[in-house]
This record gives sequence, C-alpha cells and structure tokens, in this order.
Amino acid sequence: MTLFYSKALEDKVLGPFFVHELGDDMKSEEWVDHIDLLADFWLTELNGDDSYYGNFIGAHIKVSHITEESFVVWLKLFSQAVNEVYTQDIAKQFKERGILLAEEFQQVLKIKGNEWIQIKRKTYSS
Ligand code: HEM
Repeated sequence: MTLFYSKALEDKVLGPFFVHELGDDMKSEEWVDHIDLLADFWLTELNGDDSYYGNFIGAHIKVSHITEESFVVWLKLFSQAVNEVYTQDIAKQFKERGILLAEEFQQVLKIKGNEWIQIKRKTYSS
C-alpha cells in the first residue's frame, strides 16, 4: 500500500489528487490514517475480513476531475506496486479485484474508453 502511494504521490497525473486531499507528507497523520484505511479495505476485499465499513465510491465524490487517464495511471502504478511486493498469485488477485472495482467506479462516473481497455488487457497478460 505504501509503495503504491509513494508512486502515486510522485506521479504527475495522480499526485495532485492526493496532495489536494491529504497533503504531500506520507508521514502525516492524515496519510497514516489513509494507508491504514486502505489496508482494511483490501483485507475486506480479498480476505473477507470485515474491518472496512466505508463507502469507497462515495469517498471519491469530492475528488473532482477524475478521468479515464486517472484510472489508466492508477492501474499501471497499482499493478507495478503489487508485482514488486507480492508473489505472482497474490499480485494477480489484487490486480483482478482492482480492475473490477475500478470498472464499477468508472460506470458510476460514466467513464468509458479505449485506453482503459488496452491497459486492462496488458495487465491481465502481465
Ligand atoms: C482513479 C483514480 C483515483 C484517484 C485519483 C483516487 C483518489 C483518492 C483520494 C484523494 C482519496 C482520499 C479521500 C479522502 O479521504 O479525503 C481516496 C480514497 C479512497 N480510495 Fe481512491 N482514488 C482513485 C481510484 C481508486 C480505486 C480504483 C480504488 C479501489 C480499487 C480506490 C479506493 C479508495 C478507498 C477504499 C478510499 C478510502 C475511502 C473511504 O474514506 O472510506 N481508489 N481515493
């Protein structure tokens, strides 16, 4: 999780969203809380834990200007991070679930595009 966010924070497309909501210091309380929350989110998604009760789509409503490009970069950095940290099998589970969640999210935002289809194909085959 920390690796993904350090990549996201440095990225010119994703960085500004996070700096705007949480600041640029990953050691701050806001960031530590955010990373803890995301750890709970993923444990709930992949392990069936029940530690996350938030509304992940609702939480992004105030994050304006999310576009197809945001999702393309999100998936690129997310898969790089999980590939670096986890075994192939576990990384695959994160990527598959991440793709489903990102698509659910894009449907709500009515975002649809070819770039997403391409990065999704590439991620499935990597
Ligand atoms: C596409 C680009 C994305 C951007 C720019 C983005 C940005 C953000 C930001 C700035 C927050 C913090 C909101 C706050 O606490 O003030 C957040 C929260 C969160 N994001 Fe994203 N996000 C993206 C995609 C995703 C995807 C695809 C997922 C799931 C796979 C996800 C899962 C979450 C979760 C679980 C939270 C915490 C929600 C809560 O407060 O309960 N995000 N996101």
